[in-house]
Amino acid sequence: MKNIRNFCIIAHIDHGKSTLADRLLEFTSTVSERDAQEQVLDNMDLERERGITIKSHAIQMDYELDGEKYVLNLIDTPGHVDFSYEVSRSIAACEGALLIVDSTQGIQAQTISNLYQAIEHDLHIIPVMNKMDLPNAMPDEVEDQILDLIGGEREDIIRASGKTGQGVEDILRAIIEKVPAPVGEAEEPLQCLIFDSVFNSFRGIIAYFKVVNGEIRKGDHVKFMATGKEYYADEIGVLRLDMEPRKVLKTGDVGYIISGIKTSKEVKVGDTITHVKEGCKQRIEGFEEVKPMVFAGVYPIESDDYEDLRASMEKLQLNDASLTFEPESSAALGFGFRCGFLGMLHMEIIQERLDREFDMNVITTVPNVPYIVHTKKGEELEVHNPSGLPEPTVVDRIDEPYIHAQIITKSEFIGQIMTLCLSKRGELIKQHYLTADRVELNYNMPLAEIVFDFYDKLKSISKGYASFDYYSTGFKAAKLIKLDILLNGESVDALSTLIHFDNAYTLGRRMCEKLKELIPRQQFDIAIQAAIGTKIIARETVKAVRKDVTAKCYGGDISRKRKLLEKQKKGKKRMKQVGNVEVPQKAFLAVLKLD
Ligand code: GTP
Repeated sequence: MKNIRNFCIIAHIDHGKSTLADRLLEFTSTVSERDAQEQVLDNMDLERERGITIKSHAIQMDYELDGEKYVLNLIDTPGHVDFSYEVSRSIAACEGALLIVDSTQGIQAQTISNLYQAIEHDLHIIPVMNKMDLPNAMPDEVEDQILDLIGGEREDIIRASGKTGQGVEDILRAIIEKVPAPVGEAEEPLQCLIFDSVFNSFRGIIAYFKVVNGEIRKGDHVKFMATGKEYYADEIGVLRLDMEPRKVLKTGDVGYIISGIKTSKEVKVGDTITHVKEGCKQRIEGFEEVKPMVFAGVYPIESDDYEDLRASMEKLQLNDASLTFEPESSAALGFGFRCGFLGMLHMEIIQERLDREFDMNVITTVPNVPYIVHTKKGEELEVHNPSGLPEPTVVDRIDEPYIHAQIITKSEFIGQIMTLCLSKRGELIKQHYLTADRVELNYNMPLAEIVFDFYDKLKSISKGYASFDYYSTGFKAAKLIKLDILLNGESVDALSTLIHFDNAYTLGRRMCEKLKELIPRQQFDIAIQAAIGTKIIARETVKAVRKDVTAKCYGGDISRKRKLLEKQKKGKKRMKQVGNVEVPQKAFLAVLKLD
């Protein structure tokens, strides 16, 4: 155990975590340079394309320093806010962390929020300034920022480059010399912390864990404490480039277990594995049930595809337990599902996976947060869809989820960012200068305001020089009302939103304007109206047109005509017939794109 080092890498998106991890794997000959795939740790296609580490993974390296052999376990952490709970569990499995800061960018919001978590878990922090090969590196300035943030000595900050390999040896030495070996009691009852799980179509669900106390052997009868389910450890082992089976894993080790688990719901990140006989009494602290915070309707474009969509969702859920769904029907869209996601990025990823992996053509409705409705009779209902709200007459009050938001930006943008946050119902809690021209702003804000266009606006105001992170803080009462949209007099349930009273009129007007842009002209006038209850608060009209797409090709050219018609048909694919109006997919998300 004294020669084990468990560490993770914390970094803001794009600061070079994956690239540097690859260099570590190469330098320790865990992968040979020749067959090193770019970014070994990001093995999902989608991850690679987006350059975001979505799921955390772990990998073991051997390294010899001064004649002594060490086992280094790198536990990878996802970098996006939607997955922050997974980050917290990965961090809990480590004793040290590399804090990677891009030397051209300096410290950003996620650097800080992940760092706070690492410090909370008493991890030893090794600061690394990456991308030192770039001409616009600002090492002195960034060093000042790092020292301001974590203290320590200037010479302890390692200057590195994932591109040239500069500093990689220093990093490995620092990991061995500074990160403490895991502490734990070999004699205590077994306690393993699950920090991740993956779905494998041949092996079922594979759980990744760290042995906190005791030891686990192949064949052991074990229990997952949060679910209470029991299994036999058919296979245990360590994670190298592939899984390598072992007979026993001891205190401090990081590894995997395969035990005939069929669905991801049975394995909860943060749960504790122990023995059925003489197991531990207490779970490892900090376990949380992850809850979806963003909900949206997902409907097949062709109603015949409903069962296929259900099958696809079930498959997706096998390896993504944080996705939830339940059947739902909409007068406008027919039969579909109300899905719960961790956040907006998670929602986009699921939508893309449905399209790519399952070839499912779907319409997604405007996302919303979960609401807690208190009725006058004293009941409490959790509502995941604005159109599912009880009648206003029976509602006593509605609570919505709040977050603590952290924004880091250059001081020149503070004014505009504060105006933005104010318009999003944010309350400033703290303002704090990190350096002379970089400031950290902390806000209490309704989550619903972030779900809409907050992030895009923040980026455009700050010309990209603002980073943002948040965590949930619970529910709070708010003056919320339902805004309905009517097309030719018919209310379209899939376009209903729940919004703050003060914004209702403006939003209603802008929704109508936006929908007017998005709904194509048809052979009759289309009235677009926004309503609160029975009161119409805004109206726009899409004028009728008679359009013959083939009119442009004079006479003869049949094949050209056919092509045009095909094209028109394709364009129609992402359209949904609502009453007598054809509505494009984009319109269902209109509220997200209001300027
Ligand atoms: P996420 O997984 O999205 O959090 O990103 P990451 O932090 O893993 O960053 P990644 O390793 O994907 O690097 C982001 C970009 O920076 C890529 O285009 C890399 O090629 C580039 N990059 C990473 N390290 C260096 C470096 O040391 N020097 C230079 N010049 N470019 C680098």
